[in-house]
Amino acid sequence: MALLGIDLGTSSVKALLIDEQGTPLASATVEYPLSAPKPLWSEQDPADWWRGTGEAVRAVMAKAGLSAADVRGIGLSGQMHGLTLLDKEGQVLRPAILWNDQRTGPQCETITQLAGGKQRVLELTANVVLPGFTAPKLLWVRENEPDIYARVAHVLLPKDYIRYKLSGEFATEVSDASGMSVFDVRNRTWSDEMLRILDIPRAWMPRCAESHEVTASVSQSAAQELGLQAGTPIVGGGGDNAAAAVGNGIVREGVVSASIGTSGVVFASSEHFVMEPEGNVHAFCHALPQMWHVMGVMLSAGGSLRWHRDVIAYGDPALTGRRTLGSDTDPYDIMLAQAAHVPAGAEGLLFLPYLTGERCPYPDPLARGAFVGLTIRHTQAHLTRAVVEGITFGLADSLALVRGLGIPIHEVRAVGGGARSAFWRQLMADVFQTEITLINSAEGAAFGVALLAGVGIGIWRTAREACDATLKVTTRVEPTRDSAVRNRYADMYARYRELYPALKNTFAQLST
Ligand code: XUL
Repeated sequence: MALLGIDLGTSSVKALLIDEQGTPLASATVEYPLSAPKPLWSEQDPADWWRGTGEAVRAVMAKAGLSAADVRGIGLSGQMHGLTLLDKEGQVLRPAILWNDQRTGPQCETITQLAGGKQRVLELTANVVLPGFTAPKLLWVRENEPDIYARVAHVLLPKDYIRYKLSGEFATEVSDASGMSVFDVRNRTWSDEMLRILDIPRAWMPRCAESHEVTASVSQSAAQELGLQAGTPIVGGGGDNAAAAVGNGIVREGVVSASIGTSGVVFASSEHFVMEPEGNVHAFCHALPQMWHVMGVMLSAGGSLRWHRDVIAYGDPALTGRRTLGSDTDPYDIMLAQAAHVPAGAEGLLFLPYLTGERCPYPDPLARGAFVGLTIRHTQAHLTRAVVEGITFGLADSLALVRGLGIPIHEVRAVGGGARSAFWRQLMADVFQTEITLINSAEGAAFGVALLAGVGIGIWRTAREACDATLKVTTRVEPTRDSAVRNRYADMYARYRELYPALKNTFAQLST
């Protein structure tokens, strides 16, 4: 028997099958396009999501050699916040507007004003309204595409569109609903007040479940199309960050994750509702009942290093040479090996990683990147080191906000591409001054929702039990005992903290 986890990402969808011990059996990933028809816009066609999901599910079933009846439960995860609009026949009305679309600055202001100010928005939804979130996108459609708005009957998040296609049901769950700006995170239900203020019919909103609850079952037609068994239960699942947290075992206080992918995410669980008074980190429901989480999102973490690789480091013969020779050495490995020889603090060079604006700790789309402290002595390796340190300082900012809320941090679990580098793990341990760990799974969100499916059908009693049964720590890294290194990072971090306030106005002027 097997459990199926589906993670609908921004560039691809991943389908993962695990057995009842949590052992991965097979996975398959299918890419789909992202379109930016205008500056600041980011959209996808839900039909591509469904096509990709079908291909990925059929591929993973074939790889694992399973028959339809072997799959006993399905969990759904996906990119958060995206607005998917359907008419009363269930037809998609326009391309989905995604989490990384930045067109809705004015609508965020409108919502905040209509609600009576930022503090009231925080009281109602536990978060400030950000351009990435769902409600401002809906207001944008109301203002700019009234003909489409007039036909709206259902508002769905990306993964919940897949649930609809799988089952015909309109349902979501608490972790993803938390990022819509119309959800009462404290009470784990829709905010009737916010819906009323924004004049959005509650009937448009899907039914909202807890993440492990069975919400729907596979329909005859979807079963045929995907090679699944009709009637297979589908649990709520989770927004990709909460789902990945389950997949990484971030299910109790004290163990926090720091993820370095394109974006950087610090994720901390809490046994009670908690929010940052200024809303500088997100406060959402966790995918476990009676648990919440706070989350700091950096928009360009690994994305900064990729930019550095492509734009600056690419000119290094050591990299281009190896590439032309067809060596399979990863350019990142070469860059990081060079950076490891540069002393901590990159000999006085700092990097600000706000290459695509920032969300946490500074919700500022006009924030920009910078190298500060360049001298003629600095080499490319120094620049790489400064970039890696700058990204790590950015994550440290979110960790500091989490600590400031009284959430304990005993262990930081490194996940995502950045976690693969031993050099970067040590740097995190030294900058964060906490133990850094790695676990035995890198399957992330798809694994997390497969575990939730297992909880839904009774294999494990709780998601925590599922994590304890399937995950273990494989590597532990302690912070350096060298006080010179520790002090150097502390000094550089203090200088880093001074940069954004000093440059904020300059950034704003540069981007007009
Ligand atoms: C979270 C967020 C992103 C998306 C990307 O708030 O916007 O992490 O979920 O998949």
